[in-house]
This record gives sequence, C-alpha cells and structure tokens, in this order.
Amino acid sequence: MASNQATRNRLIVALDMPTLEEARRLVQSLDTTVSFYKIGLELLFADGLSFAQNLSEQGKDVFLDMKLLDIGNTVERAVGNAAELGVKFLTIHGHDQKTLKAALNGRGASQMKLLAVTVLTSLNKNDLKQQGTDMAPAELVLHRAKMAYEAGFDGVIASGQEAANIRKITGPDFLIVTPGIRLNGTATDDQERVITPGHAIQNGANYLVVGRPITQADDPVVAANSFIEHIKHALTTQA
Ligand code: C5P
Repeated sequence: MASNQATRNRLIVALDMPTLEEARRLVQSLDTTVSFYKIGLELLFADGLSFAQNLSEQGKDVFLDMKLLDIGNTVERAVGNAAELGVKFLTIHGHDQKTLKAALNGRGASQMKLLAVTVLTSLNKNDLKQQGTDMAPAELVLHRAKMAYEAGFDGVIASGQEAANIRKITGPDFLIVTPGIRLNGTATDDQERVITPGHAIQNGANYLVVGRPITQADDPVVAANSFIEHIKHALTTQA
C-alpha cells in the first residue's frame, strides 16, 4: 500500500478554523494542490458535518476527526451515522477493546476507515502522569496501537516519532497517520511530540496531518507545496 500511494494524497490539511467561509476559501485556494482534508471539532460546531459531506461529494478525501469516546452502544450508533456521510477516515479514542469493537460493529459494510487515536501529540510524560499512568508516551502509544491492530482497526493516529515501532508490530498494511508535523526550526505551537515530514515518512507514516503551518502561512499554497516536496524527497530517498 505504502509504495502505491500517490505522494500528493499523503498530505492531509487540517481545516482548523472558526468559520465555514474560511474553510471554503482555503479549500478553494488549495484546489489543485491538496485533495485530502481533515475536519475536526472546531469546524464541527460551525456546520462542519455538511461541509464534510459536500467535500466528499466533490471527490475530495475527508478525514472526520471526531475522536469518539463513549459507552459502546453510543459509539456504535455514532459510527453508523458517520458512515453515511461518505468520508474516508473517522477517529475513535483507542483506550479499550470494548470501544474499538463497538466502532467496528457500527461501521458495518461501509468503506470508511477507522483510526484509533493512541496518545495526543500534544501530550508529554508529565501530562500522562496527570492521567494516572507512569508509562512514557511512546510506550502507551505502542500498547494502544497493538490493541487497535488486534481489534481489526485500519490504523492509528500517532506521532511520527513512534511510527517506526508501530510499523514493526503491525506490518505494511496498517495505516499510520501522523499529526505534529513541523519543518525544522519552525514554531511547534501546542504540540509536544513533533517531527519533520521527511522523518515521519522515513519512519513509516502513510499520511501526514498538517494544520497551522499551512492554514496560517502567508501563502498556504506555497506552504502546502513545500510539505509535498519534503514528502516526495523522503519517498525518493527511501525507494
Ligand atoms: O496545527 P497542527 O498541525 O498542530 O494541527 C494538528 C491537527 O491534528 C489538529 O487538528 C489536531 O486536532 C490533530 N491531532 C493531533 N494529535 C492527535 C490527533 C489529532 O494534533 N493525536
């Protein structure tokens, strides 16, 4: 899968913006550059779901980043409804087998891929300690990735720093989608476990999620092309 995947399609732009107008404008300006978009919680509360459906109908790939976590019955039904929107990816927090299984049941025969969020890339060891675990982020990510893989999930969300270890235990077909992508020497914002696009690809990531470095760039098209070039370069040197 990894080697056949189109380079351009590996970049997912996170449409984290307050209004639908801004999201529409960005998608329009990136039209010939980017074909995959992530809609998350911010846009969800600004009519983001109908926008997700519109984008899918226009032939764009859509990643619905809902990070679901609830009792099994609720997750199952929520996933069933999300599957009707025609989106390509949906996220569920990958904390336990029960929730993962419920999500798989809810998806039914839909082609929508289910991805488990392992540990948010904005969290470090101290944040996990506050959550009640002494595990290091990399260790907890691996534990959760293994659980998602064994449950039959299509892939995980993790930092590119952890991608190589995940790839070792899951094989080539399991999807690794990595946020927290930054070019060398640029602002990390609230992200903790960041990595460059080149290193994420070298470590086995299939898709890179990039938000602010593109959405807040002076010229988002130039910024998106720069990420695509980094991805291309990493794939060429890997081949
Ligand atoms: O702006 P930035 O590139 O940091 O955006 C990263 C995006 O990826 C955000 O939309 C964030 O919600 C999402 N994300 C993340 N870490 C995860 C899962 C999703 O940063 N583990």
